[in-house]
Amino acid sequence: MTHDTAQSTKPRVVLLGLGAMGTALARTWLAAGYPVTVWNRTAAKAEPLRGLGADVAVTAAEAVAAGRLVVTCLFDDASLEEALDGADLHGRDLVDLTTGTPGQADTRAVWAEKRGARFLSGGMMAIPPMIGVPDAGGYVFYSGPREVFDQHASTLAAPLGVRFAGTRPGAAALYDIALLSAMHGMLAGITHAFALVRGEEMPTKEFAGLLTSWLTAMASATDLMAEQIDSGDYSRGVVSNLAMQVAGNRALAVTAEEQGVDFRLLAPYSELLEERLAQGFAEEDGTGALELLVKGS
Ligand SMILES: NC(=O)c1ccc[n+]([C@@H]2O[C@H](COP(=O)([O-])OP(=O)(O)OC[C@H]3O[C@@H](n4cnc5c(N)ncnc54)[C@H](OP(=O)(O)O)[C@@H]3O)[C@@H](O)[C@H]2O)c1
Repeated sequence: MTHDTAQSTKPRVVLLGLGAMGTALARTWLAAGYPVTVWNRTAAKAEPLRGLGADVAVTAAEAVAAGRLVVTCLFDDASLEEALDGADLHGRDLVDLTTGTPGQADTRAVWAEKRGARFLSGGMMAIPPMIGVPDAGGYVFYSGPREVFDQHASTLAAPLGVRFAGTRPGAAALYDIALLSAMHGMLAGITHAFALVRGEEMPTKEFAGLLTSWLTAMASATDLMAEQIDSGDYSRGVVSNLAMQVAGNRALAVTAEEQGVDFRLLAPYSELLEERLAQGFAEEDGTGALELLVKGS
């Protein structure tokens, strides 16, 4: 039984998956006045949402039957397949916010099309407290058919910002994971930096503030790197050439040794720059090391 949709001019959102993210998404759509049908494997998690006006489906198939726009926010790609097993997807627009790889999204798009659904893949650049809080800056990458994105963009924008990443189904996952990869490297560097100074005179909190401002200033290097990559000219606009960077980086390894800190988090990047220098690119920027990473280049 669904609540009377005639009272709402907004389209119904069917949401499968009420974990930390799904629950926050459902709350935001409900607060924004959207009719919402929810389903979760563990039924008890849906009860607080019923109290907020959600229609609660007993099965995933019943939920899918309730509306055209079906949003999934599940644990992983395998749980999506399990949850939708037996649901009739004909005429549905399936928007999958479950984290996965680009390849999984490409495969899932074909799977959905064979079942009569149009498919958008999403990559959420947010954590639960950012959902429904526009100033927090959270957003979702979407990829797949542009017309499907355009049709649902205003509904999808209620809980988090929206950003179209491309028509390849896997594009959203690719950009999501590219950003997470950059974060991963940044956290590796931060962990190493804290290890170097632990127990020294400066309060850790004070050093944390220095880290934040230094990393913020250094992050602007991405603009120049993008120009170098697009032009294929890694010597363009160089301010610190590779020879200088490699010489400086050797002090990083020695300092780690002096401080009794394992260099394993940073060693691979230092080695990559050394290799590029040995190839004769002393006057270029460090960006050229990308050529050693991309297989087949
Ligand atoms: N949390 C974050 O900060 C964050 C940020 C960005 C992206 N994400 C991504 O968003 C997705 C959801 O994250 P979350 O934090 O909401 O996870 P979560 O709290 O662990 O919730 C996982 C959800 O998946 C359901 N599920 C798991 N296996 C299932 C199966 N085999 N069949 C049906 N349902 C199944 C769970 O149902 P039960 O309640 O029955 O267990 C639950 O609703 C994940 O892909 C995650 O990587 C999370």
